[in-house]
Amino acid sequence: MVFLGLHIGIHDTNISLYKDGKCYYAKYERHSGIKHGVGDFTWLLDTLKSWGVDEPHKQIKHIIHCTAFFEAGLQTDNGYGEDIKRYTEASMIDKLKKEIPDTSSTETIFGRHISFNSMSEVSEIILNGSQITSTQTNFSTHNIFSNNAIDPLLWLNYKIIKEMTNNWNAKVDNVDHHKLHTYSTLRDYEQQAVMDGKGSGSRYALFNDKVFEIGKDGWPLGSYLIPIGIRMGLGTDSEINNSLDMPGKVMGLQSYGSVVEKYKHLQGVELLNYALSGYKGDAVFENKDWLDFVATTHDTIVNETMQTFRDSFNKDKPISYTGGVALNVVLNQKLKEENFDIKIPPHCGDEGLSIGALAYLGKMYDFEVKFDNYPFCQSDELPWDEVCSNTIKTTAEALAQGKTVAWYQGHGEIGPRALGNRSILMDPTIKNGKQKINEVKKREPWRPFGASVKQDQAHRFFEMTDSPFMMYNTKVKYSGIPAVTHRDGTCRHNTVTPEMNPAYYELLDEFEKLTGLPMLLNTSLNVQGEAICGTRDQAVKVFNTAKQLDQLVIGSKTWRR
Ligand SMILES: [Fe+2]
Repeated sequence: MVFLGLHIGIHDTNISLYKDGKCYYAKYERHSGIKHGVGDFTWLLDTLKSWGVDEPHKQIKHIIHCTAFFEAGLQTDNGYGEDIKRYTEASMIDKLKKEIPDTSSTETIFGRHISFNSMSEVSEIILNGSQITSTQTNFSTHNIFSNNAIDPLLWLNYKIIKEMTNNWNAKVDNVDHHKLHTYSTLRDYEQQAVMDGKGSGSRYALFNDKVFEIGKDGWPLGSYLIPIGIRMGLGTDSEINNSLDMPGKVMGLQSYGSVVEKYKHLQGVELLNYALSGYKGDAVFENKDWLDFVATTHDTIVNETMQTFRDSFNKDKPISYTGGVALNVVLNQKLKEENFDIKIPPHCGDEGLSIGALAYLGKMYDFEVKFDNYPFCQSDELPWDEVCSNTIKTTAEALAQGKTVAWYQGHGEIGPRALGNRSILMDPTIKNGKQKINEVKKREPWRPFGASVKQDQAHRFFEMTDSPFMMYNTKVKYSGIPAVTHRDGTCRHNTVTPEMNPAYYELLDEFEKLTGLPMLLNTSLNVQGEAICGTRDQAVKVFNTAKQLDQLVIGSKTWRR
């Protein structure tokens, strides 16, 4: 039997499939190179075909998706709290059929004014899904700031779901976004926390199926940081419109300011208004006031969230923690330090929603959702061959000589953080290493770089010794690694075992033989504004573009500049 978990969404499209006892996962951005991109129907069919599903309309038995119908204004209730079951398990398709007209010639949907430039253009884009990215850039800002616009990407969602509902044999059901985050952990934890930057147009946190509004007006940590980042002029144009990377960019800045009393009271709209009067680009470093504002805002919301955790959870039992805010390593570290047993999967953001959908189906039909070689289970392009010991040795030598290396091995890791298969690597002892890698990555100067360390040696350098997915900013105990030590003396590291990633562990081992250090600076193989490489050609393009990279290694093949 074949089952499909689906998240088309308005960003980060991903699909998961169960077929003949095996599970498959694909994220559109790793195929297209478009960061956070939204996949079209053609991509969906091609991917299913690559997994041996040639006739999905006949083969698939049941599909669960989590289309963001909230943002379309379809649901009159937010669907959480007491009513969660009713809404999470209800299919919205019949309602959609009645409320969305078949053509896009009208100027209103759901009684709302549609603010895109031209309805015929939108219609064309929907019919030719490959052009969809242009609308993503144009319209996603409305999702943040306006309730009066409907993203045409919802039309794409609708069209795909409608096609499946009407013309495929499969049963098609919609399950709530937050609920699928919870299911995505693939474990039956009694305690569950879900906190999104936006979620399905809803800014609530869901703890044990109970709704919390973190911060005034229900804006949790991720949402607070978005307008601050936009105001600072961070990122490329597409990122500004996309906004999804803003919290991560601003998060690194909080350690440069101090927590001050005068900003503690700012919340909700008042805080956002203050953020909009802020500073752009490098000017932030010249304004202590602004740095204090960012630090205080971050700290205030972190503390408020911590209190909600205290009020909601038992420290003696594990807590599954998902949603985009779970990528905030500062908050995660504080929760760990306070002995909350949080379990965060590497796919805690929306890239995990299709896995949650498949897990939901697994519960219904009694099959196990398990991915081969997890977390390196993207259905992206493999190298031509496997890396050999000789290539590992010569790469370690290059790194020991201070060279920067782009490293493309096996399948890509699930989630937004490189864990050693799609990485840019460097010796972490290099004093100006951060600046050097920043010339490649074009990141903001205040943002720290992570490190990979052999797990059995982690205790020599870091307070936390088990962090396979790079989810915590732990204290650095060793003074000789400036390229990966943040201003506040922390590092976001991932611990590596031979079982999890044998080739990468061997590379760390060879580097240790040469330098005495079982550790490398590790950042994702991409440049700013683009997705982590998912094809060999994309990796070669990054190497050709970023002249500061000294070597590219794909499988056992090495390019040297
Ligand atoms: Fe989410």
